[in-house]
Amino acid sequence: MRNEAKFKELEEKNAQAELGGGPKRIETQHSKGKLTARERLDILLDKGTFVEIDKFVLHDSTDFGLDKQRFPGDGVVTGYGKIDGRLVYVYAQDFTVMGGSLSFTHSKKICKVMDMAFKNGAPLIGLNDSGGARIQEGVSSLAGYGNIFMRNVLCSGVIPQITAIMGPSAGGAVYSPALTDFIFMVDKTSYMFITGPQVIKSVTHEDVTQEKLGGALTHNQTSGVAHFMGKSDEEVLGMIRELLTFLPSNYREKPPVKDSADDPERTDEALLDIVPESPRHPYDMYKIIKSVVDDNYFFEVHAKYAPNIIVGFARLSGMPVGIVANQPKYFAGCLDINASIKGARFVRFCDCFNIPLITFCDVPGFLPGTAQEYGGIIKHGAKLIYAYCEAVVPKITVITRKAYGGAYIVMSSKHLWGDINFAYPTAEIAVMGPEGAVNIVFRKELSAAENPEQREQELIEEYRRTFANPYRAAEKGFIDEVILPSETRPKLIRALDALKNKRDSMPDKKHDNLPL
Ligand code: HXC
Repeated sequence: MRNEAKFKELEEKNAQAELGGGPKRIETQHSKGKLTARERLDILLDKGTFVEIDKFVLHDSTDFGLDKQRFPGDGVVTGYGKIDGRLVYVYAQDFTVMGGSLSFTHSKKICKVMDMAFKNGAPLIGLNDSGGARIQEGVSSLAGYGNIFMRNVLCSGVIPQITAIMGPSAGGAVYSPALTDFIFMVDKTSYMFITGPQVIKSVTHEDVTQEKLGGALTHNQTSGVAHFMGKSDEEVLGMIRELLTFLPSNYREKPPVKDSADDPERTDEALLDIVPESPRHPYDMYKIIKSVVDDNYFFEVHAKYAPNIIVGFARLSGMPVGIVANQPKYFAGCLDINASIKGARFVRFCDCFNIPLITFCDVPGFLPGTAQEYGGIIKHGAKLIYAYCEAVVPKITVITRKAYGGAYIVMSSKHLWGDINFAYPTAEIAVMGPEGAVNIVFRKELSAAENPEQREQELIEEYRRTFANPYRAAEKGFIDEVILPSETRPKLIRALDALKNKRDSMPDKKHDNLPL
């Protein structure tokens, strides 16, 4: 005979767990413009694929009345499911249960899915919405954070780790997201900071709002802590789904190739006019990127931060690629501290996960100034050099215009083992720009000249003729081919195909010592 009572008990337990902190708290969550943990997972994962684990887990703390506050699941929903049919592991903190605060038990649930993601080689996605360490638990909850941090580092470079901040993230709690590969934030309903506005006021007497201190815009635009922002929970969850389409599930796999209807031989005559005649005039590097990639579709990362460098994902004949490009529209495309860090982090991510790198170079140099020097442009610029040097994925470069000085070397040059390096006929590859060069090399001649201005112009012209072209570099094999801009797409696709079985690795070592 069927034991209906037992089945009913399970049904009731499930229903109770699924209510989280109860209808009133769910209503409050909605009234703040936020979805609940379960609603978020419903949107994130393919319909009907979520499998929850540890649904009935309870904490066993008793201090400060905790024994009377036991909710099945303990404030975090964990498990696995599919995105576009591919396995992912997930956790979503439930703010309706004690503010999503992290108890030791809550942390053990997160650690369990992290271990499963690690062992099974599938991405880990965390949806954070938490008041931080469960204050009543004291050091146990801190231990819980430590255990998560440790796993974040073990997983780094093994599986993609993605965090969405969908509510508060304060104090040391911010460090798990910071140890993952990408941080998403929801505009106006999420914030991250080490110390909040009140502590700041009491220590430094600064007045700052929560939003200005650690809102989505601040971290996407000013600090660079976050990589993406969306205007709602729904939008952010959709963006995470999209990001995953470019990524392999783990470091042993290649990224998933998508069927593409875009002709690999497609040329674009408009690119012949893209680089202006005057080297002083800017142009929009997005136009080149969008013209050459499949369906003109570019999924940008860190779009609001350091706009003088552009990074993001696209596809070429269906193959995901990571794009790094100087943007002449901002600071003339100079590399500065923020651009170097942004570029380096992206290059390293792509290398971890076998995503070929396409670099578009138009860089007049590193940004001059005391702010940059005092801020450590030397060590930060070194990060970008380091990242390109150690990257063993296929590296293809297109120099569109300026490639001057150290910045020429940095941007995936042949000397950092760039695999295939192209240049447009408009490329200028030299130690520095003609004006600067002439004023250094011919300073004495110019001061003695009868008409210094005219002589200066003559020398600039001569320098430009000699060096402001791609042919000196091509003569030495530092450029593999000078190409017409209109042919960029087919050239890149053929290069990518020629490198598709590239095998290379860094020498065996304990670990490297990236300049920090
Ligand atoms: C226990 C917490 C909690 C916490 C919130 N709650 N944070 N319970 N530990 N850390 C509970 C509240 O008591 C409340 O319970 C419920 O969650 C909802 O919180 P509210 O305050 O009503 O919500 P709201 O007004 O939206 O404010 C959210 C908040 C605030 C800004 C996050 O709750 C807050 O300031 N919490 C403390 C944040 C904090 O300082 N955390 C420690 C950070 S340091 P009831 O039952 O009343 O509804 C840290 C160290 C990590 O995390 C170290 C790692 C190395």
